[in-house]
Amino acid sequence: MCGIYGYIGEKSVCEVMKGIKRLEYRGYDSAGIAIQTDLPFAEDGNTRNGDGITTIKNKGEISNLEKIVLNRVVKSNVAIGHTRWATHGQPNIKNSHPHLSHDGKWAIVHNGIIENYLELKEQLSSDFFVSETDTEVVAQMLEKYYNGDVLSTIKMVCEKLKGSYAFAIITSHCKNKIFVARQNSPVVVGYGKNYSVVCSDINSIKGDRILMIENGQFAVLEKGKLSVYDNCLKEIDINELGEIEKAGGEKLGDYSHYMQKEIEEIPIAIKRTVKAYANVETLEKILPKKRFEKIKNILIIGCGTAYHAGLVGQRLFEEEGIFCESAIASEFRYKPFTERKNTLAIFVSQSGETADTIGALKLCKQKGLKTLAITNVKNSSITFAADYCIYTNAGSEIGVASTKAYNCQLAVFYILSKYFNYLKHGDLKAYDEEIKNLRRIAKLIKYNDNKHICSKLAQKIHKARSIYMIGRGLDYNIAQEASLKLKEISYIHCEAYPAGELKHGTISLIDKNTFVFAFVTQEKIKDKTFGNINEVVAREGKIILFSPFDNANKKVCEEVKVPKIKERYYPLFIINYLQLISYYTALLLGNNPDKPRSLAKSVTVE
Ligand code: F6R
Repeated sequence: MCGIYGYIGEKSVCEVMKGIKRLEYRGYDSAGIAIQTDLPFAEDGNTRNGDGITTIKNKGEISNLEKIVLNRVVKSNVAIGHTRWATHGQPNIKNSHPHLSHDGKWAIVHNGIIENYLELKEQLSSDFFVSETDTEVVAQMLEKYYNGDVLSTIKMVCEKLKGSYAFAIITSHCKNKIFVARQNSPVVVGYGKNYSVVCSDINSIKGDRILMIENGQFAVLEKGKLSVYDNCLKEIDINELGEIEKAGGEKLGDYSHYMQKEIEEIPIAIKRTVKAYANVETLEKILPKKRFEKIKNILIIGCGTAYHAGLVGQRLFEEEGIFCESAIASEFRYKPFTERKNTLAIFVSQSGETADTIGALKLCKQKGLKTLAITNVKNSSITFAADYCIYTNAGSEIGVASTKAYNCQLAVFYILSKYFNYLKHGDLKAYDEEIKNLRRIAKLIKYNDNKHICSKLAQKIHKARSIYMIGRGLDYNIAQEASLKLKEISYIHCEAYPAGELKHGTISLIDKNTFVFAFVTQEKIKDKTFGNINEVVAREGKIILFSPFDNANKKVCEEVKVPKIKERYYPLFIINYLQLISYYTALLLGNNPDKPRSLAKSVTVE
């Protein structure tokens, strides 16, 4: 959510433009850059000169900013840039970062939210403000409280802030430096010969040596040099800071979109996840028997797709006789906490940066629960916050709509459920069997020729105004994730419903123009769902049925006969159809599936 990139060294403007481009998946409402320069530019609606600093900004995707920045000869050794996902104020030029102080001597880019910004704003002159953002308040405070020493001014201002932030700041009071501060929003810094760099995303930074900045720390970047300070401004030996393994950037290659590429990668991603935990000893090292054999209850928490993966996880643990609950992180955080004994709290997050999930984790930790993170991103914030961590190994996921990461989260839950069974009953055979089965499913997805039927179904539904998705048990969980996928990139209203619940109100919305996807894969409850399908057909709703079973009601609009597999694996298998249908539908509607409107890849604000 929002991206920060700053660079000191030759061609800093180019490096920052490339950097924010790599971060664009995190937000793309508007973008901007601040350049330290003694040569003022011709001012226009996009360009504003400060004192030794010029900002250039534009609305929309970074390509819009690129057009106006790269058209000019911009030479500078110091630049900071930002790609925005709007939280305060519309995505227009004024609200775009970087923000200048009134005297033009400070420029700041920010990720996070300053919760007390209105209160702080009241203490400043209202004439100074050009934007509606929380960030501009910080720029004006830096000017107001400047005490002759830049770093101690930044520290003093930070102490007055409530909320979360990662800041990159430049100032003409102290040229050729970038100042960085962090509180509850991730930021990494790096350096090499003749350059240094700051970035809000571990996977998008380029640098020879990369270090993580912890909450409350400050960093000062210079050409080829980096200094880090603790919250009392005592310098920290950077050799003692955690160095970060560089993650390779992902290239789009021959694919049209990351989403398409990432759906294609699902079988290989599942195989990678399974390989990592194929030997039970690996999990025994991460989750030692002694500490986990007494676990009686599991609580799974996440947001969006990650929450949906947790819902499937819940059913898998329940199958093993373990009491399990799931919760949406933003809800869980603010409801009364019920004391739980022998409970493991599992937090699912692809990015490992989701503010609500991390907030819920911290709460559980405070209440004495063991915490386990399931994440895709090495060194992400959640990996430091949790007691234990399991990686999904899906590979980088750039498309905003989560696909392969979801499948790998499910793979981890399949394995974990059998691991807890092994801890309880010593049943290694069932664990090994699970590994084999998951490999089979990965192969089945790989060779399942479903592109034609998915594109045909997308054709069928893409003009619909409203779609419903129904199922019972695990089939309802399929419907939940499928409906999120479809709505987030097609913008078609789509709701998931437990099949048996439809008649308690929502069925009144079904008419001859309504498509209803129905998932029927669980033998025990199939007749019940077929009954609910009949109720929809009776109201002329158009059923699109996914099932391995013979269907008694020939009046469905479309039927996708899926192969017979063990029932518990249908969420992993069938979601692939719905990911593809969503992708094709977005294309038919002219939407960019990689950058759905109003969304961002990692949600680092509450
Ligand atoms: C939907 C999607 C979101 C995320 C949610 C949590 O396709 O990607 O619903 O699943 O924002 O994100 P993570 O998993 O990074 O915590």
